[in-house]
Amino acid sequence: MRKLFSIILVVLTFLTAFQTRAEDGKMSDKKALVAYFSASGVTAGVADRLSKAVGADLFEIKPAQIYTDADLDWRDKQSRSSVEMKDRASRPAIASKVENMAQYDVVFVGFPIWWYREPSIIDTFMESYDFSGKTVIPFATSGSSDIGPSGENMQALAPKAKVLKGKRFASGVSADELKKWTAEWL
Ligand SMILES: Cc1cc2nc3c(=O)[nH]c(=O)nc-3n(C[C@H](O)[C@H](O)[C@H](O)COP(=O)(O)O)c2cc1C
Repeated sequence: MRKLFSIILVVLTFLTAFQTRAEDGKMSDKKALVAYFSASGVTAGVADRLSKAVGADLFEIKPAQIYTDADLDWRDKQSRSSVEMKDRASRPAIASKVENMAQYDVVFVGFPIWWYREPSIIDTFMESYDFSGKTVIPFATSGSSDIGPSGENMQALAPKAKVLKGKRFASGVSADELKKWTAEWL
């Protein structure tokens, strides 16, 4: 009798813990990565908040050659960013690679909007990995533009991935809002 009581107690404890996990929204066993490029720190802030909010790994897509202020001058048609963004085949090199990309189910890819779309270095990133079976979710910051065709462009470069449209966020978006946004995938 005592043994039966112990078994029932163990089962009840397990069920309660299980339900608590479900209520917390932490049922997912999906492993997520937040990879981001940020030239002036705004997207970096959002990416950091997002990774902490959902317990995802964080990876900075660092250019092999850092963008200077002159490189980022969109008013100068000859600046590095202007030249790269005009050339759809431009693929700026990335300094390092994600270790073991295979372990991730969901990859959030963050960037600033440049000329209404993803910067060319994001195109380099999308062509650098095998995204088979993964969901890729773009997110962006910008002066005011929406995320535009970024997701479609990224999908074309990584046909084995399932790339979603994604979302543009204001620089001050809260951790809470970011977490709510991710709920349907994690
Ligand atoms: C070369 C370049 C092009 C940009 N193009 C746009 C644009 O088309 N629309 C927009 O709203 N903001 C544009 N911006 C502003 C950035 O998207 C915005 O400042 C962003 O939050 C910067 O993020 P970061 O600090 O992570 O680099 C551009 C900025 C640069 C440097």
